[in-house]
Amino acid sequence: MIREIVKYPNPVLVQQTAPVEKFDEELQQLVDDMFESMYAVEGVGLAAPQIGLKLRLAVIDVTVGKNPEARLVLANPEITHSEGEQREEEGCLSLPGFRGFVLRPKFVSVRAQNATGETWEMRGEGLLARAFCHEIDHLYGVLFINHLSMLKRDLIRRRIRKLQKAGDWPK
Ligand code: NI
Repeated sequence: MIREIVKYPNPVLVQQTAPVEKFDEELQQLVDDMFESMYAVEGVGLAAPQIGLKLRLAVIDVTVGKNPEARLVLANPEITHSEGEQREEEGCLSLPGFRGFVLRPKFVSVRAQNATGETWEMRGEGLLARAFCHEIDHLYGVLFINHLSMLKRDLIRRRIRKLQKAGDWPK
């Protein structure tokens, strides 16, 4: 089932999340829904707060559905190591139409649980490293615009207020 993706500045995007504790059928269904919702808008990552849930859960697939083995479920993820730097343009499904250059580590190692509660660990590079950082940020109420200069962030906020006034963006 495709879930509605909430848009910035919906307060659920900045609220505290709780750890995933029950690895049951309901969680598997939720994870399936998250992949489906993400693929429907051709995203590479989606975090639970983006569908209105205060849960430490995200999904990532940097192949956008092309390789089933690239599907990653991140329950209770933690960054265990990061190194290097990359500066690339980033976007977010909660801020469609907006992009900005964000400095991220080039390599990021993550430890998380999958939908059945098994712990996995992986070292990501490039886009995957970026997706790890972006989605884990979501679980702590941080959006990519928080990493932009104040000038650039204010510009995006002003454009969103304009869209809201025109009725083209949720309040
Ligand atoms: Ni995002």
